Amino acid sequence: MNVSIKNIRDRDYRCDALILPFCEEDAGDYKSIGPSASSLIRKIFRKEFSGKQHELLLVPSPADFKPERFLLVGIGKRDEVSPEKVRQAGGKAASYAQNLGLRNIALSTEVLSSLKISPAAFLEGALLGTYKFRKYHTENDKKPLSHITILSKASRGLLDEVRSVQVVSSSVLFARDLINTPANDMTPSHLASVARSLRGKNLSVKILEKRDAAKLGMGAYLSVAKGSEEPPKFIILHYRGTTKKPLVLIGKSITFDSGGLSLKPAEGMEKMKYDMAGGAAVLGVFRAVSQLKLPVHLIGILPATENLPGGSATKPGDVIRSIGGKTIEIVNTDAEGRMTLADALGYAQRFRPYAMIDIATLTGACAIALGQGAVAMMGNDKELMDTIRKAGHMTYERVWEMPLFDEYREYIKSDIADLKNTGGRAGSLSTSAYFLKEFAGEIPWVHLDIAGTAWSEKDRPYVPKGAAGIGVRLLTNVIRESI
Ligand code: BES
Ligand code: MN
Ligand code: ZN
Repeated sequence: MNVSIKNIRDRDYRCDALILPFCEEDAGDYKSIGPSASSLIRKIFRKEFSGKQHELLLVPSPADFKPERFLLVGIGKRDEVSPEKVRQAGGKAASYAQNLGLRNIALSTEVLSSLKISPAAFLEGALLGTYKFRKYHTENDKKPLSHITILSKASRGLLDEVRSVQVVSSSVLFARDLINTPANDMTPSHLASVARSLRGKNLSVKILEKRDAAKLGMGAYLSVAKGSEEPPKFIILHYRGTTKKPLVLIGKSITFDSGGLSLKPAEGMEKMKYDMAGGAAVLGVFRAVSQLKLPVHLIGILPATENLPGGSATKPGDVIRSIGGKTIEIVNTDAEGRMTLADALGYAQRFRPYAMIDIATLTGACAIALGQGAVAMMGNDKELMDTIRKAGHMTYERVWEMPLFDEYREYIKSDIADLKNTGGRAGSLSTSAYFLKEFAGEIPWVHLDIAGTAWSEKDRPYVPKGAAGIGVRLLTNVIRESI
């Protein structure tokens, strides 16, 4: 998408549609388009269009106007408008325009600036909302929207905001592409080559092969890989924007989760290609952070593997030894994510991080409890959780804390080993997190379960059906706030 900022009057910019955001109270009074066009809009206001959130109306523009059409978009009541509502309006308006075959739209900023809301919020919604995944279609789609112009003075602040929104949004789309790609193509090896493609001046990438992981004693991670012919890849990214202690981001990267010998039911199994959405989010964050050249020190870990029931697959009842020495009884091979994360958390200790955050499509229980509404959060550090909660509000990738009481330890006690890998169905959102906590040690750590939010079951204003790319905006914001 070509994005520009132009200091031109609304009526003088040639485009397929001029987007006019309206509040319910605005009644079509628009200085920037002049009295004749304002009166045209006043005529339809409260009849065909009333400015309610999500309302859209396309009208032809007067003959002496350069924009061919007006696209009115509602942003609701004046005192209830928020950046999120504007972001949603951006997604709605831009995808509507794209579906009509329009190529070139411009945003009038008069109402937004009177509300002191940045047009960057609208742009963000538009960039995220017009996403399509057509890599596997052979028939051509309509030509996509190609130009968005913000009609405004280009202040330093606005330029910075727009650039940042472009980098972060394109990193969300990058993550969505990875997640939507089917597992026959999105193998651990492919994920590793995608990670390598991010290498740059401050960003190095190292891949541990199976034998390296074995030497390091990653029995938990390797127990998951045993049932698959695809070689596992333990991917490590290192971004050095400062020399301070690093933050470690760990992303669950099961490129396909069949459940292993504890096989999942056939229905819906095809969706388990999204079990690497945590890893994709971490890659998206590294892409954004390195393009923005943020002065931070970051380590990313993606313990990538498939979870399949091959002939040498791990069997329920097997006991393995994790990197830190703790032994685990594998009761259910479908609880594989925590096995890979246990060794990733153990491996992360060597970087002496000031904090660790893992992001994972870890439990079905998360999707049941919170649906698309929130990311589940648990951890051992209140301050870090507060920062993440705040970032959740700013990005609207909201998180909700679930309990991590010591009583959950009981659930994962094993008769034969230090721990077992599941505590059964009851409380599994918390018991899975408690399992991870055992491997975080003394380091401030937060776990984010994105099983409910990583995949959108239907089109939403700026999240089309399919991979949501959740976590990229949230974690990039967390990192920014930590500077
Ligand atoms: N990847 C799944 C969790 C999942 C389920 C994500 C549905 C998205 C949608 C995870 O590996 C898993 O299978 N979890 C099991 C654990 C159980 C066997 C203890 C679950 O939550 O059912
Ligand atoms: Mn599983
Ligand atoms: Zn899984």
